[in-house]
Formats: sequence, C-alpha cells, structure tokens
Amino acid sequence: PPSPKTISPWPSDLCKGCRAIIEKVRERYSKTWKKQEDNYRSLSSQLRSQCQGFDRAIITQANTPVGSNIVYAAENNKSLEVTPGIFSTFIKENPFPKKKWDTCAVVGNSGILTNSSCGEIIDSAQFVIRCNLPSLGKGYEKHVGTKTDLVTANPSIMLKGYGGLMGPRRPFVESLHSYGKSMMVLSPFSYAHTTPVCLRAVYSIRDFESPIQPMFFNPDYFQSLALFWRSRGLRRGLLSTGLVMVNIALEQCANVHLYGFWPFSSHPFELNAVNNHYYDDLKAAWTVHFMPAEFDLLLRLHSQGVLRLHLGNCR
Ligand code: CTP
Repeated sequence: PPSPKTISPWPSDLCKGCRAIIEKVRERYSKTWKKQEDNYRSLSSQLRSQCQGFDRAIITQANTPVGSNIVYAAENNKSLEVTPGIFSTFIKENPFPKKKWDTCAVVGNSGILTNSSCGEIIDSAQFVIRCNLPSLGKGYEKHVGTKTDLVTANPSIMLKGYGGLMGPRRPFVESLHSYGKSMMVLSPFSYAHTTPVCLRAVYSIRDFESPIQPMFFNPDYFQSLALFWRSRGLRRGLLSTGLVMVNIALEQCANVHLYGFWPFSSHPFELNAVNNHYYDDLKAAWTVHFMPAEFDLLLRLHSQGVLRLHLGNCR
C-alpha cells in the first residue's frame, strides 16, 4: 500500500475549482479571528453614508409617496407609478431602530449547516436574519436554530410553491408560522412580473391576520449596493439575497456573524459533499449571481476582522 505521505488528501470528487478556495480558507481560518474595530467602523460608516440601508433599504410610506416612480432593479427600462392601492401595502415607517443591535447572525442556506450544531449560537444573537423562507424545525433546530427577527421571501417561492397565490392562500400563510412576528422582506421590484404575487402575499398576510410583518426591499438600495461593491472589486452579477442582508447587518449591528455561506459542493475541512441547501438536495442554479466572487469578498471581510464567517462545526 502507498505510504501515508503519498496518499493525496484531496478526494477525486472534490468540486471543480474548489482546491484553491479551500486552501485559501484553511490558511485564513487557521489564524485566530479578532474583530478589527477600525476596519469595521470604516466599512460600516461608508455603507451608511453611501448606501443608507438604514432608511433606504425598505420602502416605506414616508420615503415613497403616492405618485413616485419605482424603477425595477433588474429591468432598468421598466418602472411603476405608486398608486394609492400599492401605497397601502407599504409599511408606514422605517423598521430599523436608531440604536445598533449588539450581535447579528446572518444565516445563509448552504448545506454546510448540516450537522454543524450551530443552532444554539445562532439563536443567542440579538438579531437573527434568515433568507428565503428556509425550513425551520423538523429536526434542523440543533444546527440552524429557530429564532428569526427578519426573513426574506423570494417571489419564486410563492410562484413555484404556492401557485402564485392565485388559489387557496391559507397554506402559504400557515407556512409562515415558524417565523413568528418577524419582519418579512419581499422583493417585488426586481422583476416586473413578480410585483403582483408580492402584493398578493401582503393581502393574504393581512386577510389571515398573520403576526408576521411584510415589507418590501427598495430597488434603489440594490443599485447603490451594486455600485458600492463594483468600485471595490465585485464586478459581475446581481448581489445575492444573503450578501444584501450582510450589508444591512454591517450598518445595523456592532458584531456581524455569518453562518451557512458556502456556495461550493465540497466541505472546506472534512471534504465531504455539501448540498446547496441544508433543507433539500436540489442543485444550485445560479444564473444572475456570481457566488465565488461574493464568497471571496466575505472571506476578505473575515480576514480584515470586519465580520466573522463560521464555516466549521460550532460545538
Ligand atoms: N448561500 C450560500 N451558499 C449556498 C447557498 C446559499 O452562500 N450554498 C447564501 C447566498 O448568499 C444566498 C443565501 O444564502 O443568497 C440564501 O440562499 P438561497 O435561498 O439558496 O438563495 P438563492 O436561491 O440563490 O436566491 P437569491 O437570488 O435570493 O440570492
């Protein structure tokens, strides 16, 4: 048999192009992480002044009056005039408090969370952000936690999973119980064809008196984030929901911890296969996002002590 020295530690089924990123992660991760207050403050205040997520990330009745024109984020040639009917679906005021939260956990949906035992530490954060109505409970508690203060909802979930909310709406509203009274941020103004289903989601939530608080992303905020990061090296693709939420957290939270951000199909330390999601085995089909570059950016921010990426086991 070959001596242990000649056996490659790299399995033959390692995902394509993953060796380089895994080596980089291992090198950066082996150093003890420490928050670099200056780097964090500088980025947080640049985001505050240039992107103003604090009062522009969410459409409100205060920042988007009747008669204003909303330009779609991914279809710049299309816009929508705010009618009194559409206006009535906006929340009244800015949902974010003036004072920063101490610790935020931003939870992406990567299968890297499977068997991670990160649930307890995620739930210990003061503010927990989740993406795209992920499955909670069902045995996932130990690894992803249950606390949710803000959850995003991609329109494709209502279009694919709930018949576009054209029929019975109760199953959709009941599926929201696991997020309690959290803020639920929909994205009706990225693509024009998704506006009606997002409005129907708000009507359904109100009709069934669900405690969740629906609100809408402001496409102007997406544009300013894209510009902000383009000038700092992220030149391709639309920002993923997870990265948008990281930016909001960097403005709103003193300490930002990320879990479930790993857009590759091999584990960085154990090298076993990793699903795209912790709750299903569907393959990733990113067409508009450029995930390797997004991950590289997150790793850079981790190394600069701006935020902390959690990739291993939390035990
Ligand atoms: N994510 C990740 N690695 C994965 C899966 C997800 O880093 N393997 C992060 C991404 O930032 C993503 C977020 O977790 O935006 C939520 O995951 P998911 O619901 O799978 O997002 P997408 O379907 O890619 O949709 P979106 O266009 O909303 O980003």
